[in-house]
Amino acid sequence: MFHVAEFQQKRTGRFGSELHYFEELESTNLFAGQLAREGSGEGTVVVANSQTQGRGRSGKFWFSPPDVNLYLSLILRPHAQQLKYLPFMAALAVIRVLRTYGLKPDLKWPNDVLVKEKKICGILIQTAMEENVMQFAVVGCGINVNSSHFPQELQRTATSIAGELGYTVSRESILAFFLLEFERLYEKIDTTSWEEFCPELERNSSYLRGCEVRVEQNGQSWEGETMGLDSYGGLVVETNKGRQVFYAGEIQSCRRR
Ligand code: BTN
Repeated sequence: MFHVAEFQQKRTGRFGSELHYFEELESTNLFAGQLAREGSGEGTVVVANSQTQGRGRSGKFWFSPPDVNLYLSLILRPHAQQLKYLPFMAALAVIRVLRTYGLKPDLKWPNDVLVKEKKICGILIQTAMEENVMQFAVVGCGINVNSSHFPQELQRTATSIAGELGYTVSRESILAFFLLEFERLYEKIDTTSWEEFCPELERNSSYLRGCEVRVEQNGQSWEGETMGLDSYGGLVVETNKGRQVFYAGEIQSCRRR
């Protein structure tokens, strides 16, 4: 069980002051979307102790067993042109938290957080536009905190904070710390330029620049060397067919130069 009162004691920022907690939900993103449509404000957070239909990117499921990990969704109301920051801010906030535990996280484009090349956190952003005006964004985040077992198909590719540290950690503390770091980044969304924002991303990613990758998108694949992000958040790859920019897709392999 997740202890809401303990989280509220540990929370120091504004995000999460309105928290909706459930022992079980289909998906926190789904519920947060409903709350946002009904008018819930920025910083509202939905947390579930387990999810029956946890959603991952590309229509995949997110492994969401009870009592061990964090499944959360944060409601934000950014301008459309600020959207590109959100997945990277969420990943950076997780990375800052993991670093304080002595881990060495790596941002894998577009927004996976890995430790020792295994996924420890996934981020799914869902947005609603009406007549070309951004209504809200739901930032969904699954952090493998204390999972010690993963299903067979994830065993080679997933890890957890406890799995890496060798001891269990408080989900309430991780959530409070994550929301504070996210809030600190989000507060600057109006004043930070993309050029000022990108260096911290690149410092925390072995994939974004100078990395040999294969990018898979809609059944096609390209190989080349990464050259950083463009001003829309797309991954620039120098391929043998020229420079390509990807705004979605999956990096399949990587060899550092
Ligand atoms: C990915 O595929 O990497 C993204 C996974 C996102 C999972 C989180 S768990 C909380 C929130 N609710 C969902 O249904 N999905 C996101």
